[in-house]
Amino acid sequence: METESEPTSRKSHWENVYNSKKLEEVSWFQPKPETTLSFLSTYKVPLSARIIDIGGGDSYLVDHLLDLGYTNVSVLDISEKALERVKARLAERAKLVQWIVSDAAKFVPDVEYDFWHDRAAFHFLTDPSDIAHYVESAKKGIRKGGNLVVGTFSDKGPLKCSGLEIRQYTKDSMVATFGEDFNLLDSNVLDHKTPGGNVQNFIFCGFERV
Ligand SMILES: C[S@@+](CC[C@H](N)C(=O)[O-])C[C@H]1O[C@@H](n2cnc3c(N)ncnc32)[C@H](O)[C@@H]1O
Repeated sequence: METESEPTSRKSHWENVYNSKKLEEVSWFQPKPETTLSFLSTYKVPLSARIIDIGGGDSYLVDHLLDLGYTNVSVLDISEKALERVKARLAERAKLVQWIVSDAAKFVPDVEYDFWHDRAAFHFLTDPSDIAHYVESAKKGIRKGGNLVVGTFSDKGPLKCSGLEIRQYTKDSMVATFGEDFNLLDSNVLDHKTPGGNVQNFIFCGFERV
């Protein structure tokens, strides 16, 4: 029997979300990913940088990256439907982006990225072996000197998202999780206001790959 932690069930959960909810209806919706854009600016990430958004869903981050002139952007998500939706929105511009349908807990990068971003996908990994695989992928997939920016619910945030259990992080637990291959540069605790008017406390950590 399948359990919620098995990848097929995880995938069907997310396909169902993107088949049934509109972009503006989901709790994680944000028209402009201000926090992520400010990390890009703080780290002076050049327009030629190889960027990947892990669990990007159909968020507006990719639109903003293309508007800014970034030329080497990849979006990875477990849901094919999520990526179809953002491709339809981007129309012709979708050809400028690499689209990867994959479970982040299984993903094996075949190139090194300069900037690896994850907002509210990593925290769905609760199984220690999935978390360890993700950290290994990030280690392999980010060039030395490149950046990792991960945003998750904080210890003051919700315990679930989209009906699924999540793992909360603090600055210390994030540092412990990513280990000595990543050097913490910044951390930022902030509230996200959902379209339904709730507040969710997030922590974003920015690292340099050592
Ligand atoms: C809460 S949404 C956040 C979407 C986007 N990052 C944003 O900030 O709007 C979580 C996203 O992660 C994706 N996701 C969840 N688990 C995943 C996994 N194991 N591998 C890849 N993507 C995953 C979901 O399909 C969904 O698009």
